[in-house]
Amino acid sequence: MIVIDSVDKTYHLKGNDVEALKKVSLTIEDGTIYGVIGYSGAGKSTLVRCINLLEVPDSGSITVNGTQLTWHDSEGNFHRKTNHEMKKVRRGIGMIFQHFNLLDRSTVFDNVAYPLKYNGLKKEEIEARVTELLELVDLSDKRNVYPSQLSGGQKQRVAIARALANNPKVLLSDEATSALDPEATASILNLLKELNKKLGLTIIIITHEMSVIKSICHRVAVMEKGRVVEEGDVYSIFAEPKQEITKKFIASQSSLAKVSTLVNDPLVNNPAEGGRLIKLTFLKNSVGESLISLVSQKFNVRLNIVLANVEMIQDSPLGEIIVVIKGEEKNIDAAIAHFAEQKVKVTELEAN
Ligand SMILES: Nc1ncnc2c1ncn2[C@@H]1O[C@H](COP(=O)(O)OP(=O)(O)OP(=O)(O)O)[C@@H](O)[C@H]1O
Ligand SMILES: [Mg+2]
Repeated sequence: MIVIDSVDKTYHLKGNDVEALKKVSLTIEDGTIYGVIGYSGAGKSTLVRCINLLEVPDSGSITVNGTQLTWHDSEGNFHRKTNHEMKKVRRGIGMIFQHFNLLDRSTVFDNVAYPLKYNGLKKEEIEARVTELLELVDLSDKRNVYPSQLSGGQKQRVAIARALANNPKVLLSDEATSALDPEATASILNLLKELNKKLGLTIIIITHEMSVIKSICHRVAVMEKGRVVEEGDVYSIFAEPKQEITKKFIASQSSLAKVSTLVNDPLVNNPAEGGRLIKLTFLKNSVGESLISLVSQKFNVRLNIVLANVEMIQDSPLGEIIVVIKGEEKNIDAAIAHFAEQKVKVTELEAN
């Protein structure tokens, strides 16, 4: 388990202080794929680099698998593990980056062998372990080639094998798919998911793309200006985002994002013709779309579907349907109340 409690970090630049982290607290359970999302400068990298003390906070406590890396004593004084003490801790925490950070003059084999050599393993042990790691990332046939001969996705696989060399419990991933095309991104995300299952690896993924969060994360923290502004399991966050920034991130990858233009399109939403534009959100525990025709009959209203979309999040469906509802005002109100009773969330969309 990783526990981050009230962590602050300010960078002091010439005549200008940057508060990168402000009272950040998070708990990450073992075996979780945990996403951290936010715009550029939100403090994501700073936060994640605190987990292996590549970045040292100014205050707050950080505990990784029971070992305190930073803490306050009973008088409130701040303490940290020394770099020497951190050597052992860092072995238990692997890290991968956007630009892979491979040694260009070394073969794939030597890149993966590097941390093992550093730890003084024997030649035969290194040989066996690298072979095993390359199998794990499906790159056995590339062991003697150089990074320049690999695709971006393959380079990231080498970086993952290297990060896992010492059998870490935790893998930190800082924008590891940001430099990859969609296909390579999907394959790296699948690999991470597989490693999480197979090895029970805890993975912390920094990204600015909600699609990455949606496809593999169990939980997510949304960061804005050095703070965690929203946190929760991925399904709940998608079903009921609370902060504006979270809604924006979700809209950025949803095919329902078009709705903001639709609301203002007189062909869809013409106040002169009456009717209201509403969004219905069907959660995993609510009844399906047949409800639409039932409601239409029961309350004598007309429901025209404008857009519909079903997302699979953590293997559960999250359905969203945008409809124009027309009829007598009191019937519309009754229909909307009925949807809510059936655990369907109703959001009225208004023209700007
Ligand atoms: N070494 C540093 N020295 C000074 N300021 C820094 C340093 N590292 C980060 N910052 C500042 O701290 C803030 C948070 O930076 P951080 O790199 O953690 O953001 P981020 O969310 O990872 O952004 P990005 O998505 O661009 O990687 C930014 O304003 C940044 O300019
Ligand atoms: Mg960053």
